[in-house]
Amino acid sequence: MFITFEGIDGVGKSTQLDMLEKHLISSGREVVRTLEPGGTELGQEIRHLLLHRKGDVAPRSEALLYAADRAHHVETKIKPALASGKVVLSDRYFDSSVAYQGAARELDVQEVKDISLWAIDRLLPDLTVLLDLPAQEAMNRRGNKGTEPDRLEREQVEFFERARDEYLRMANEPRFLVVDANLSPEEIHSQVLQRVAKLS
Ligand code: TYD
Repeated sequence: MFITFEGIDGVGKSTQLDMLEKHLISSGREVVRTLEPGGTELGQEIRHLLLHRKGDVAPRSEALLYAADRAHHVETKIKPALASGKVVLSDRYFDSSVAYQGAARELDVQEVKDISLWAIDRLLPDLTVLLDLPAQEAMNRRGNKGTEPDRLEREQVEFFERARDEYLRMANEPRFLVVDANLSPEEIHSQVLQRVAKLS
């Protein structure tokens, strides 16, 4: 079982991942919790280049660096975990690239999707939970965390609005569950569990 969490920065993915991970472990499942970018050692270096290195990154280069992180992540961590019967929970996956590099960065959505599908060797998740919130609200929530924004988080509200709109467009695919991120964490968790129950 392969489950990914998506949404723009500030919608509360980590809280939901924590809750689902605990639930699955307590029901006896072996869980591999991971993230993009940075789910592997190589990925951590790529993450640093993408988010914390000084200076600009050309948009196509940005798209390829996320794809490079992902290709290594799928091959060395996600596939082996699934092959040994574990549940994989990933904080972001290729839909992030379609929303952020394709729509928000205004590269071509289909081209970015094609690169990403090649990178993941067409390994699609069984379920993708999209936590949805208007960009301004998500940004306000992030502001309250008090942490220093990374390179992507320094983008304007319009950038995140384009990402959000693209996520909602993609969510027509049956593998998506869209949840209103304004609901309480417990309520969101219960909607996620109802859907997960149908998978296993
Ligand atoms: P994330 O780890 O979710 O951020 P944080 O640790 O601050 O919660 O993601 C890092 C940033 O990278 C986030 O702004 C979204 C962006 N991103 C893309 O633009 N494309 C991608 O393919 C991925 C996976 C992330």
